[in-house]
Amino acid sequence: MKNTVTTFRQMKENHEKISMLTAYDYSTAKLEDEAGVNSILVGDSLGNVVLGYEDTIAVTVEDMIHHGRAVAKGAKNALVVVDMPFMSYQTSVYDAVVNAGRIMKETHCGAVKLEGGKVVCPQIKAITDASIPVVAHLGLTPQSINAFGGFKVQGKTIEAAQKLLDDAKAVEEAGAFAVVLECVPAKLAKKVSESISIPTIGIGAGNGCDGQVLVYADMLSMFSDFCPKFVRKFANVGETMRQAFKDYDAAVKDGSFPAAEHTYKIDDEVIEKLY
Ligand code: KIV
Repeated sequence: MKNTVTTFRQMKENHEKISMLTAYDYSTAKLEDEAGVNSILVGDSLGNVVLGYEDTIAVTVEDMIHHGRAVAKGAKNALVVVDMPFMSYQTSVYDAVVNAGRIMKETHCGAVKLEGGKVVCPQIKAITDASIPVVAHLGLTPQSINAFGGFKVQGKTIEAAQKLLDDAKAVEEAGAFAVVLECVPAKLAKKVSESISIPTIGIGAGNGCDGQVLVYADMLSMFSDFCPKFVRKFANVGETMRQAFKDYDAAVKDGSFPAAEHTYKIDDEVIEKLY
């Protein structure tokens, strides 16, 4: 069944957990969709995972559209959410609506996600008013990595925890239909989840959230540059790929690949007539 913003709301009301994974290409999205994952996030983490950048700052709207379009083609039932990259919405409400509109029109995704609380509520309201569903993102927001001074757990002091709770209430009020909580203490994420009526999707935020999201390349052990504490490795696909690449390299070099079954035939007569 097609997952929509309504599915998200109903799942929270029915205390059913929402599953979300990132994907950046058609084939991965298709596999996740076939597995029954509720939502696929085309995260700007594609900057790290696909493009090899150190952070997400350099990712562009064009990058998000390029990958978002491929993912949307692979996802029949999952709700596809595409990240708005750094500086595509912070600059003005106008820029936010124009860029969210481009992302929706050019990818056929179901929603956009942007980072920040009260400070981006005018953008969330304007994008929602333009009939584009918005997921908010609070806690460790990677686009603010330079302002945070590194990847750190957020919301640990009374002031920071209260700000996070206030931001969650503000993004709900502004029209967001869900909020990602990243790298937040589990008890705080639970308190936030119980205090708002839209679903919280946790990443490094404990199991008191209404759903969970992971970067697919992390949970498959495909991305090895760094691995946050909150990742569970569900499979060692990275090692399987490395071994297959080694086997291929050896088979090409020893001549055992391609074998007869991988080869197209032609009548000897044709070859003999060539000069
Ligand atoms: O870009 C991304 O993959 C994300 C998730 C980590 C939530 O925003």
